[in-house]
Amino acid sequence: MFGRDRIEYKTPEQVAVMRRAGLVVADALGAVRARITAGVTTADLDAVAEEVILGAGATPSFLGYHGYPATLCVSVNEEIVHGIPGGRVLQPGDVVSVDCGAIVDGWHGDSAFSAVVGDGHALDQELVTTTEDALWAGIAALARADRLGAVGEAVEEVVEAAAAAGRNGGVAYGIVEDYVGHGIGTAMHQPPDVPNYRTRDRGAKVRPGLCVAVEPMLVRGAEANRTLADDWTVVTEDGSRAAHWEHTVAVLEDGIVVLTAPDGGAERLGALGVQVAALP
Ligand code: MF3
Ligand code: CO
Repeated sequence: MFGRDRIEYKTPEQVAVMRRAGLVVADALGAVRARITAGVTTADLDAVAEEVILGAGATPSFLGYHGYPATLCVSVNEEIVHGIPGGRVLQPGDVVSVDCGAIVDGWHGDSAFSAVVGDGHALDQELVTTTEDALWAGIAALARADRLGAVGEAVEEVVEAAAAAGRNGGVAYGIVEDYVGHGIGTAMHQPPDVPNYRTRDRGAKVRPGLCVAVEPMLVRGAEANRTLADDWTVVTEDGSRAAHWEHTVAVLEDGIVVLTAPDGGAERLGALGVQVAALP
């Protein structure tokens, strides 16, 4: 999608502004998460996020992006990404993925999480947990990596471990390859691509100033997907359920910081043996 040239390397001062954007996104997603319950509409969730972002003096980045009509993407069950919020009422057991972006002083943050509404199916909860684990494993790999290809490698290893342990209920997870992570900074989507799967290409060099969004999408079936007539909503062909987790991560001189995690990623990365860098 993008060449390797023209990567926008950020100064520590620019990363500090991106942290502000990242925290606005984290606040918005925290507020949305607290509202997720059966009976709520996806448009209700969108309103919650918009209020937090505007209240912080920031700008929703999705709204108007190539004509996108909302602040959030809310993707339910077999919807993988880019679901448009509306009148759909969340039901117990739904798998809901919420993606949010905000701009502060021209700099972007982008993050997503998935959750099961109420008490769902154990295999749906496993899907959500495995996708979150895959995200953090990918981020931890980035902290140690020379090349971005290490991220997708780590995602695949988590998926393989879940299969080996039988946590997928005997149905191999699909890793969505048609949508990838991306550089992020003065625009939401920049070079380089960040594949969430193993590739022959070792990927762009990891060096200070690189800021990327890592965003694995796993499905409880085949990864084949199509886009609905609304031109946005991406669904699995086989109707299997999907999960999506995403964080914006900065590479600094002395390590990485997860800009869209309130603690900078300290807890989850610490558990994986990675110490996060000090914020500029
Ligand atoms: N946040 C998505 C991503 O991670 C993009 C959302 S597309 C939009 O790349 F149109 F809704 F903005
Ligand atoms: Co993204």
